[in-house]
Amino acid sequence: MKSVNLGIVGLGRGFMLTLPALRSHPLVRLVGAFDLRPEALAQFAEEFGGRGHKTLESLLTDPKVEAVYIATPHGAHAEQAIAALRAGRHVLVEKPMATTVSDCARMAQAAEKAGQLLMVGPSHGFDEPVRVAADLVASGRYGPVRQVTTFNFTDFMYRPRRPEELDDQKGGGVVYSQAAHQIDVVRRIIGQPVASVRAVTGNWDKARPSAGAYTALMTFKGGAAASLTYSGYAHYDSDELVGWISELGQKKDSSRYGEARKALTALSGEKEIRAKLSRTYGVPGQVPASQPPHHEHFGFLLVSCEHADLKVLPTGIEVFSDKIRETVEVAPPALPRASVIEEFAEALSDPHRAVHDGRWGLDTMACCAALARSSEVGAEIDPHLIIQEETEKLT
Ligand SMILES: NC(=O)c1ccc[n+]([C@@H]2O[C@H](COP(=O)([O-])OP(=O)(O)OC[C@H]3O[C@@H](n4cnc5c(N)ncnc54)[C@H](O)[C@@H]3O)[C@@H](O)[C@H]2O)c1
Repeated sequence: MKSVNLGIVGLGRGFMLTLPALRSHPLVRLVGAFDLRPEALAQFAEEFGGRGHKTLESLLTDPKVEAVYIATPHGAHAEQAIAALRAGRHVLVEKPMATTVSDCARMAQAAEKAGQLLMVGPSHGFDEPVRVAADLVASGRYGPVRQVTTFNFTDFMYRPRRPEELDDQKGGGVVYSQAAHQIDVVRRIIGQPVASVRAVTGNWDKARPSAGAYTALMTFKGGAAASLTYSGYAHYDSDELVGWISELGQKKDSSRYGEARKALTALSGEKEIRAKLSRTYGVPGQVPASQPPHHEHFGFLLVSCEHADLKVLPTGIEVFSDKIRETVEVAPPALPRASVIEEFAEALSDPHRAVHDGRWGLDTMACCAALARSSEVGAEIDPHLIIQEETEKLT
């Protein structure tokens, strides 16, 4: 596989989380970046010797840049990705792919028209234990997959946020940002097209007025079903059920209960925005997370096949089959998020190897939109009808 010269668009928190892999993976070289914050560009130039660009156009005309990783706020993804694709660059765009299904459809179309690769990630659909579980299901070893049960209870709503991250109209709350992960995981494991989504979303804190929770039932065209629940209201912490390992694969101290809410009460307005910025690249004293001992995960995940239940953990997979209980080992991560870079680099040589391409991302976003719409209208929604409606409007 050939290594890729990557330009970064958006040197924020998302970039920081992917940075350990970007910095060390032999298949990637960081050659340039564009951000609105000069301090982030200065640190990038110092650390990587790559050029800091003051505009996207400048980054996209840099002949060294073969592909870009877009990690700006969701609202900027569509236009930046389309500009990059039209400029002949491959694109890896953060989840959620964009804030509307029609924008995602435009992005997928732009990639196809330009003949460039568009991939959506990182998401937890790339986690190695999820890949192993998906392969076990696809092998048929335990009979057909029948249902997936997954839930995640976090403090998402009480982490420092930009205002638009708490505005449903701008893709805020958990429906796009967090359901995109959970839907990717479930789709990857079940491996069948989605037939319908029925969901109820919850908006329970007037001080942070966007959807912070949902519960959803997804049905699939091959007959499987999945139940997905998420709460970002910082009460119960489902990391308890995966051995107190955090979403990022680090050991978690269960005695630190309630810290996110407590820290937030001391912050208001501008201070919260500053606290969010303090977690980004280029801020003095900010260091990327250390190498995690375990894989990343997205909460409790149980996959039921006809002849076994598979509990997917950040450490491996526990199989409860008709006759025996056994563990399928998954080697600890050599580098977190390496699978994202590897899938991207592989797809550059052979586009058919991409799981999380633009069409995949569009389908996941349509499921997120179906989840929100189902809650509004109180009915089951076929996500493909949303894609059809939105693409018809584009032509
Ligand atoms: N996959 C994950 O685990 C994960 C984790 C965190 C964030 N994310 C995603 O990353 C994206 C960014 O979120 P974040 O939390 O990093 O936000 P952030 O506010 O921490 O960072 C955004 C960065 O983009 C820059 N920026 C803002 N507008 C820009 C523009 N128009 N052009 C260029 N640069 C611009 C900001 O200066 C900042 O450096 C979101 O889509 C989010 O969902 C993904």
